[in-house]
Amino acid sequence: MLDVTISHSTLPSSGALVLPVEEGRTAEAAGWAGLDAATGGAVSRALEAAEFKGRKGQTVTILAPGAGLSRVVAVGLGKPGEVTPLIAEEAGGHAIAALLREPAVALATLPLGPMLAAHMAMGAVLRGYRFDRYRTTEKPDEKPRLATLNLLAEDAGAAEAAWAVLKPVAHGVCLARDLVSEPPNVLTPAEMAQRCEGLTALGLKVEVIGPARMAELGFGAFLGVAQGSVNEPRMVVMRWDGAGGAGKPIAFIGKGVTFDTGGISIKPAAGMEDMKWDMAGAGAVIGLMAALAGRRARADVVGLVGLVENMPSGSAQRPGDVVKTYSGQTVEVINTDAEGRLVLADVLWYCQQQFDPRFMVDLATLTGAMIISLGHEMGGFFSNDDELARRLYASGEASGEKLWRLPLGEAYDKQIKSDIADMKNVGGRPGGAITAAQFIQRFVNGKPWAHLDIAGMAWATKDAATTPKGATAYGVRMLDRLVADHYEG
Ligand code: BES
Ligand code: MN
Ligand code: ZN
Repeated sequence: MLDVTISHSTLPSSGALVLPVEEGRTAEAAGWAGLDAATGGAVSRALEAAEFKGRKGQTVTILAPGAGLSRVVAVGLGKPGEVTPLIAEEAGGHAIAALLREPAVALATLPLGPMLAAHMAMGAVLRGYRFDRYRTTEKPDEKPRLATLNLLAEDAGAAEAAWAVLKPVAHGVCLARDLVSEPPNVLTPAEMAQRCEGLTALGLKVEVIGPARMAELGFGAFLGVAQGSVNEPRMVVMRWDGAGGAGKPIAFIGKGVTFDTGGISIKPAAGMEDMKWDMAGAGAVIGLMAALAGRRARADVVGLVGLVENMPSGSAQRPGDVVKTYSGQTVEVINTDAEGRLVLADVLWYCQQQFDPRFMVDLATLTGAMIISLGHEMGGFFSNDDELARRLYASGEASGEKLWRLPLGEAYDKQIKSDIADMKNVGGRPGGAITAAQFIQRFVNGKPWAHLDIAGMAWATKDAATTPKGATAYGVRMLDRLVADHYEG
């Protein structure tokens, strides 16, 4: 993750400068810290010539304006006084996108206060994210060089304090993106569990449960998915006791299918490589737990991830198999590609049994049907609790990781009736995301719960303001917001 330094506002004498500008205040911005004076009016003239008005998302790059600067990027903030944390983040993201080839970038933050300044740094850091681990031969002229980001703040102390809270969240996002980006031969369930264990350094308690213990517990659905792979499954339980650990925790649960071939109901070859990111729900939960621990959130939180590989083999489960879930309910596995709900069934039941949480929120790249419903603009969610639903929706809006609620309802249950077991694991094409949610609901034991189907949001094929294409870490910022706004103190 890009390192951010913070210093008092003065005009830098080299490198690149980001100049945030409120709508209609271009002259003031160009005059910032004597910038126009030092460049002989070059910045004002360039902004004028480019018809730059400071509208939200508008950017102009001014090359070599003088005063030793390599470039100035002016970025619009929109209407004065209406700048939100999200707008500041997006401005930081837009600006840095133009500056990835610069080694040193300074971010002016006037007219923003320390909090919004820190959000702008966050946006810049998140847009500057890259997953570079496996490149050895990239042409040097294609490689971003951005190495240092210096935040110039009026009140550097206050900006430091604000950044200290956001930095762990940015770190959690980058961690989740790393996990989701890793290839499936590297990121097996065991490897992913090991990376969770590394988070004890942040003060998280981490427990790893393997297949032997799962068998003792009776995780028949989870183990049914696992049985076709030579890579053993894991369930990881992470705890952050930021409020003392005495009360009921809140709980986040992630689907962590490290690769989903579909199993015996195998997927077509084209695009199957995408199924390395079928663990993005788990990645988001892990990133979230790292964020909460990193910023010492005053809340008791548990995060559980079900890590498994869905493979076809001589030992794989068959369409038609009946498995007994940890809850005792039986499932006829009609389609081995509907594996996520089987994993979540056992992890959710375990979570409510073990922790009696205030609520459970699960995240899963669960259905192609959700992508058909909402595309790649919002995640879909389902909940049996209106207050939790309202809070989630608001957190989505505030963080920019948007959500839209879809219905649950008994009427959908007839689609998952089985002839020989308590239910089957698929409900046909109509309402495919809903019948999946309806299935999962049978394993929450009446606890307040929400299910986030993030299939359309985990991976981006084009750049967005604070998310370069690739793994998005969708959910980390939203759920950090949820915790911060409602469950601390
Ligand atoms: N991981 C997939 C869902 C998915 C598909 C996520 C495409 C992202 C992109 C899930 O395990 C799956 O295969 N779901 C099936 C369910 C069906 C068999 C009822 C689907 O959506 O096709
Ligand atoms: Mn599948
Ligand atoms: Zn899957």
